[in-house]
Formats: sequence, C-alpha cells, structure tokens
Amino acid sequence: MNLSLGVLASGSGSNLQSILDACAGGSLDARVAVVISDNPDAYALQRGRAAGAAAVVVDPRTSASRAEHDGKVVAVLREHGADTVVLAGYMKLVTPVLLDAFPQRVINIHPALLPSFPGVHIHGEVLEHGVKFSGCTVHFVDAGMDTGPIIIQAVVPVRDDDTPDTLAARVLREEHRIFPQALQYLAEGRLRLAGRRVLLDPPCPSSGTLHNPTVCS
Ligand code: GAR
Repeated sequence: MNLSLGVLASGSGSNLQSILDACAGGSLDARVAVVISDNPDAYALQRGRAAGAAAVVVDPRTSASRAEHDGKVVAVLREHGADTVVLAGYMKLVTPVLLDAFPQRVINIHPALLPSFPGVHIHGEVLEHGVKFSGCTVHFVDAGMDTGPIIIQAVVPVRDDDTPDTLAARVLREEHRIFPQALQYLAEGRLRLAGRRVLLDPPCPSSGTLHNPTVCS
C-alpha cells in the first residue's frame, strides 16, 4: 500500500528529510502529503515545501486546550488526505482526538532505547546515568508519553568522551535509517500487533550480541 503521510514536526526536520529522501529514492512506498508544525519557524516546513508537500502551521496559541489544537491538526490531515501520521521531532503530546482519528496509524521516533529515558532532552540524562548503550526507537503512539508498542530500535554505543551533542548526533544518524524502514514495513502490511509486541511478518530478525566496552576473552 502506498502511504499518504502527514508529518508533524517542531524543529529542524532532519527525520522528515530522511523520509522525503526515501520516498524520492524509491525505498519507501509513500508520499508526504502535508507537513504540519506547531512552530512557525520550524525548518521542517521549508524542507516539506522544497519537496512539493503542503506545509501548514497550526499555532497552539490559538487553541484553548491540547484537544482543540489536535482537532485543528486532524482537520488539516484530512484535508490533505493523510492516512498515516508521523511524529518527526514533534514536541507536543498528542491527545485522543488525534489518536482516535487515526487508530494505530500514528508513529513516533524517540531518541533513546524505550522504555528507558522517555521525555525530552534526554541525552544528558543518558550520560549522567552511565548506560553503555543508547539508541532510538520507532513506536506506535498510544495515550501515554513514549509508551506505545515498539516497531524497531537501533542501538549505538555511548563513549566515555561523549557530550549530549555528540551522542545526539550518533543517535540521529540511526534515526534516519530506522524511521523510513519502519514506515516501509507498515506500507508493506508486515506489522502485526500481538498485545504490546509488534511482530514483523515475514520475520527479519537481527542477530549478534553487543558489548561496550568489548569483552576481551
Ligand atoms: C530527533 O532526535 C527526534 O528523535 C527527537 O527530536 C529530534 C528531532 O530532530 N524527538 C523527540 O525528542 C520527541 N520526544 P529533527 O527535527 O532533525 O528530525
């Protein structure tokens, strides 16, 4: 199935760009119908326009509640024929108004290995905690914050000399790989929900164990 994507983005939009590139390159059977931002200055809007998508600002200051805001977002998504909603660096929590309008069709990327480190601006917390691996997660969105069923994750090592910025950059490179891949699995109709688990049909499992630092013996 060819997906018609509505991409919600608050900032730079490098994940949006990876999706636009995958669509243009033929590795993702989708088109970006509309980019919607809560931030009029988001560079993501320019990226969308440059690729021929509609780009719309829905300013949260014009709504009395998050639900009212999401009602306006849903109207724009419908107007542009979106069938799948992609949260690509979208910094607002979505409400049931959006989730109920697109059941099991709202997908988010998070720059950590969920369920660890939900929330925003988490790379500093990752370093402070001292975990040896971080990564990123693409998941279906449910009513919680970063709690929905996980579609795909990528793992990156944390280095002793990392800063939040160097870690963020390493994670972001993997985000740009797994987000288009997750959407392509969806486009191929290969994702099946079994409780909290998202199963890939036919399966395509990863193999291999990672150690950081290396196990020498
Ligand atoms: C990405 O790292 C994304 O995972 C994160 O914001 C960044 C947006 O970058 N999203 C969240 O933290 C959502 N809670 P981008 O605008 O360059 O795609």
